[in-house]
Amino acid sequence: MSMPQPDALCREQIVKGLARLPWAQQLRVEQTVDSTNRLARRLAEEGCPSGTAVLADRQTAGRGRLGRSFYSPGGEGLYLSVVLRPKEPADKLMQLTALAAVAACDAVENVCGVRPQIKWTNDLVLGGKKLAGILTELSVAPEDRRVRYAIVGIGVNVHQTAFPDEISDTATSLKLHTDRDHSRNELAAALLRSFFRMDGLRDIGAEMKRYAENCITVGRRVQLVRADTRTEALALAVQPDGSLLVRYDDGTEQSVFCGEVSVRGMYGYI
Ligand code: BTN
Repeated sequence: MSMPQPDALCREQIVKGLARLPWAQQLRVEQTVDSTNRLARRLAEEGCPSGTAVLADRQTAGRGRLGRSFYSPGGEGLYLSVVLRPKEPADKLMQLTALAAVAACDAVENVCGVRPQIKWTNDLVLGGKKLAGILTELSVAPEDRRVRYAIVGIGVNVHQTAFPDEISDTATSLKLHTDRDHSRNELAAALLRSFFRMDGLRDIGAEMKRYAENCITVGRRVQLVRADTRTEALALAVQPDGSLLVRYDDGTEQSVFCGEVSVRGMYGYI
């Protein structure tokens, strides 16, 4: 007889942690999927209500930003995607990712007692290493640029004590950082509560201020990595629309948007 897996995902436990949150009945917990974002997208196309969420123990094709993959071993990380049907137009995508990052920091802090910082635009960082990534995807109606749905997907490294070579210098987990075990079920419930709160936010300006306060990239020299160029710059500020204001060495300034660049630190990941 096999032993129950420690910290196995348990829908019932998560639903309990959601109290009377209207999203509670729309949670789907899976063992293995290719990508929770992909499954969430399928559910959205089929017309599922806003707040439908997909959580998986393992992803075989977890996806990150700019076509990268996201390391998603079974039993170790938390892989969660939520379908939202926001009223705001498509140009708010940057803000949605930013708001999700702040919401995720709140959830990690509530459950684990440590507050991550944010590496612009969508990475949660602990001790200078990547703890989590967020991938926001939109479906936009071509006629009027209305957002049909948004998928907010987050992957958090929870129990990992080692990572593949390619990310071993830059990745961390809650276990590695705090030297304690944390419950994926509690964290999933906290994330959903936090995303629910975010979805109802009216004062986005105030939340963007919190994003800027939590953003570790501001004030650092960075490399802006585009398809075939790397440009050095100083990160000056996060703008209210979520873009990053940078100053190049020739003195010119520019706002950069998340879809176009990846930001690297000068001396490593941050
Ligand atoms: C990034 O680091 O660039 C973003 C990573 C996002 C990973 C999460 S895991 C759950 C959801 N499903 C995916 O395929 N990706 C997101």
